[in-house]
Amino acid sequence: MVGQRGIEVKTTEQIQAMRKAGLVVAEALIAMGEAVRAGVRTADLDAVARTVLADNGAVSSFLNYGAQWGIAPYPATVCISVNEVVVHGIPGDRVLADGDIVSVDFGAIVDGWHGDAARTFIVGGRTDPEAADLVEITRKAMWDGVAAVATAKRVGDISGAIQASADHCGRRVGIVREYTGHGIGSAMHQNPDVPNFGYARRGPRLSAGMCLAIEPIFTLGSPGTVELDDEWTAVTDDGSWAAHWENTVAITQDGIWVLTELDGGRAELAARGVVIDELG
Ligand code: MF3
Ligand code: CO
Repeated sequence: MVGQRGIEVKTTEQIQAMRKAGLVVAEALIAMGEAVRAGVRTADLDAVARTVLADNGAVSSFLNYGAQWGIAPYPATVCISVNEVVVHGIPGDRVLADGDIVSVDFGAIVDGWHGDAARTFIVGGRTDPEAADLVEITRKAMWDGVAAVATAKRVGDISGAIQASADHCGRRVGIVREYTGHGIGSAMHQNPDVPNFGYARRGPRLSAGMCLAIEPIFTLGSPGTVELDDEWTAVTDDGSWAAHWENTVAITQDGIWVLTELDGGRAELAARGVVIDELG
C-alpha cells in the first residue's frame, strides 16, 4: 500500500520479511568489520559481502544500481569509503592502513524486500583523536536519529534530532547535505528523503508501517562534496575525513524495530528510554 506523498506503508508480515533482509545486512557488516585490518584490499571486503549474500540466498541492493536510469551502474555489492571519501567508494585495489577510517555501506534483498546499513570502522582500532571523535559523534547521531523515529510525527522531527546531536557534540562537524536518509522497502530508495539537518514539526507525516534508512554523514571540515570521474566516489571538497553510519528502521503500531541490528536496536535504544517492538 502506498500512503500519502507516495510513502510505502508495510503490513506486519511485510516488515517481518524486511527483517530477513536486515539480518543479512547486519551479519555481512559484522563479517566485514572482522575482516577490516591493515593490508586488506577494499575489494577483499566486497568478496566477504558476496559470500554472505550467497550463503543466505540474498541479492545485492547495490550491484548494477542505477542501470535502470541510464547512469553508470554501480559495479560492486558494497560501498567502501576510506578517510576523505564520503560515500559510494568503489571497492578495488586500495589497501587499508592502520588509522584509516573505513565506512562500509551494504544493502541486501530477500524475497523482494531491502535492508540498507553502514558502519564506520577504525583500522587497527586506533586513529587520530579527531577522527576517532568523528566516528563516535556520527554513530551517536545515527542512534539519536533512530531514537527520534519512536516519537516522530514528521520527518523533520528526525532531521532535527540528528542536527541537534551534531550541534551539541562538543566539536565542529560538517553535516553533509548532498546525501540523505530515505524511505526503504520494496526498493532501496523510496520517499521520503530524510535529511540530516532541518526543523522539527516540518516535512512529511509518519505512521506505522513506514520504514526509513537513517544515515548521518559528517566530516571534520567542510560539508561539501565532489564526485570523482568514476561517477560514484564522493570525496570532501577540502580533503577532511568523513564518517557514515546507517540503519534501516521500521515504525510499528507499538514502537520501532531496527531491522539491520542483530538485537533490533534493543541495547542502544534502552539507553535512550525507547522500547523496541520485535513484532513477535
Ligand atoms: N546505501 C546507500 C544509501 O544509503 C546507497 C548505495 S548507492 C549504490 O543510499 F549505488 F551502491 F547502491
Ligand atoms: Co541508505
